[in-house]
Amino acid sequence: MKKYWLIGLALVLTFAVAIPVAANQIIKIYVNGQELKSDVAPQLVKGRTLVPIRAIAEYFGKEVNYDPKKNAVTITGKTNLELTSVISQEWATAGHANTKNPLAYAGPRDNCTPCHSGNGLERYGTDKPYTPGTAIKTNPIATDKAYTDKDPKNAKYTFMFDPYEADMPSPIGCATCHSGPGANILKTGVVPAKLNIFSGGTAEWKVGNGDALCYTCHNGRRDVAKILKDWTTPGATKANTYPHHGWGALVTGKGGMEYSGVKYAQTTAHQSLGCIGCHMSKTKDGYVSHDFKPKIETCTKCHAGMTEFTNGGKLKKELEEKLVTLEKLVLAKIPGAVKIGLDNSTAPAVDKDGKRIPAANISSAEALVGAYNYALVIQELENGGKGVHNPSYAKALLDESIKKLQ
Ligand code: HEC
Ligand code: HEC
Ligand code: HEC
Ligand code: HEC
Ligand code: HEC
Repeated sequence: MKKYWLIGLALVLTFAVAIPVAANQIIKIYVNGQELKSDVAPQLVKGRTLVPIRAIAEYFGKEVNYDPKKNAVTITGKTNLELTSVISQEWATAGHANTKNPLAYAGPRDNCTPCHSGNGLERYGTDKPYTPGTAIKTNPIATDKAYTDKDPKNAKYTFMFDPYEADMPSPIGCATCHSGPGANILKTGVVPAKLNIFSGGTAEWKVGNGDALCYTCHNGRRDVAKILKDWTTPGATKANTYPHHGWGALVTGKGGMEYSGVKYAQTTAHQSLGCIGCHMSKTKDGYVSHDFKPKIETCTKCHAGMTEFTNGGKLKKELEEKLVTLEKLVLAKIPGAVKIGLDNSTAPAVDKDGKRIPAANISSAEALVGAYNYALVIQELENGGKGVHNPSYAKALLDESIKKLQ
């Protein structure tokens, strides 16, 4: 690669760049007190200091281009400092960032924290993991149900945290993705074994790109193959399972409940974009957006003329029809059931009084599989996903569930 040189320091005057120079000494560049390493060392030529322009410009997030015809160097793009402030403003509008008390709904259980709090992932696998559940068990205030907080605002935390002593959960933020385990997952593209739900915590998940970071938390959180095995093994525990908010479960094509020996179609075009490709598309200024909102320009690259994400609603309608068919078939196999349960207290099905019918009382494994996939697709449709994450997989999961029940 050609090297370009900048005479003097005009480009970086606004930043504190120091180049101490003495005869016969290696010249080093310091930017805001930190040494800037460059593949080309600065040089003293005829009493003037020449520094590599590319290294300095790129440090500040500028793109450097050389036009040999004009013998000109152009520098474009936002600086890192401008970028950080733009990105912070975008991030402030994202749903991730809006959770002031991230464990308020997930609860302070140790195994919820890596996905539901910033410090949970930031300290994951370190010698100081974030384990509020363990802390609570050993905290005298936490175990004293009669304790009332001085501040009425904190009353609801009285036996969750001691608000003056406890290590409170922090929201997901820049550090969650750009430092520690998060940054490592982003860089290596590998979900660590202990966070890989689909291996029961025993094997790494080699995704191959930064989407590994999104999959770490967004995966549906259920080891579906194991659950299905338990449902069909006499004597094994039959869990009342529902999918844990499974956009990722659909995108990865790993989180639906599948029958062995059946090949499930996938919308590979969408999968190849990845969470980052759709939710953090590059802006026209060339940086990765952080508002986490998909942009229609991403879609029109393939769907010419598309003006809104459902593309006229045909897919949504098709999925809704399949859901109605599947629900009828599932309910017919579960005596007394009037509705498929979608959450913690109602899955897999409820009776006319709204009471759970436990999986243990349901003899049809096909009904349980149907109820699970029904919940997965309906969550996607109703909670803002619009069915677009992996249309072919969503359809295939419903079709196979229906086929096995007919
Ligand atoms: C540390 C776990 C974690 C990681 C890593 C993570 N998410 Fe999330 N995400 C969540 C949780 C939890 C929520 C629900 C909102 C909340 O509680 O903060 C959420 C919400 C969202 C939402 C809906 C709200 C919004 O911001 O629009 C989108 C979209 C999203 N995540 C996409 C992504 C993408 C893309 C990535 C990868 C770059 C990612 N997430 C990485 C945990 C995570
Ligand atoms: C593997 C990561 C992961 C783990 C572990 C996890 N969650 Fe979640 N959870 C998520 C993601 C991602 C969402 C999606 C939130 C969204 O996008 O709206 C979510 C959503 C939720 C929601 C729904 C919030 C809403 O706004 O509807 C609840 C409740 C919840 N989780 C409770 C828990 C509890 C309780 C635990 C521990 C027992 C737990 N979660 C463990 C990843 C996880
Ligand atoms: C093909 C593009 C595409 C891919 C790939 C994709 N998404 Fe989405 N996602 C969308 C669209 C479009 C919406 C609907 C957004 C809207 O209506 O504004 C959406 C909605 C969501 C929502 C609900 C939005 C909200 O504000 O609550 C979440 C959460 C989400 N996606 C998470 C993810 C995660 C996690 C991944 C990766 C595992 C992912 N998405 C991959 C396109 C995509
Ligand atoms: C949920 C995860 C997540 C969070 C939170 C997050 N980022 Fe990022 N960030 C990413 C991903 C993914 C990329 C692009 C891929 C990469 O850098 O490897 C990125 C890229 C960047 C870049 C490089 C931009 C470019 O295109 O050159 C900067 C700078 C950045 N982030 C700053 C921030 C700041 C500042 C915050 C907090 C306000 C933040 N990020 C929060 C995931 C995240
Ligand atoms: C790389 C090309 C590509 C991009 C980009 C893309 N899609 Fe698709 N999409 C496809 C292909 C190919 C199919 C059909 C294959 C299938 O269903 O498996 C499809 C199918 C769909 C469908 C179902 C069929 C229909 O037209 O109703 C919807 C809805 C959809 N995409 C929405 C989106 C949205 C929203 C975005 C942007 C967030 C997007 N797509 C981005 C390639 C793409």
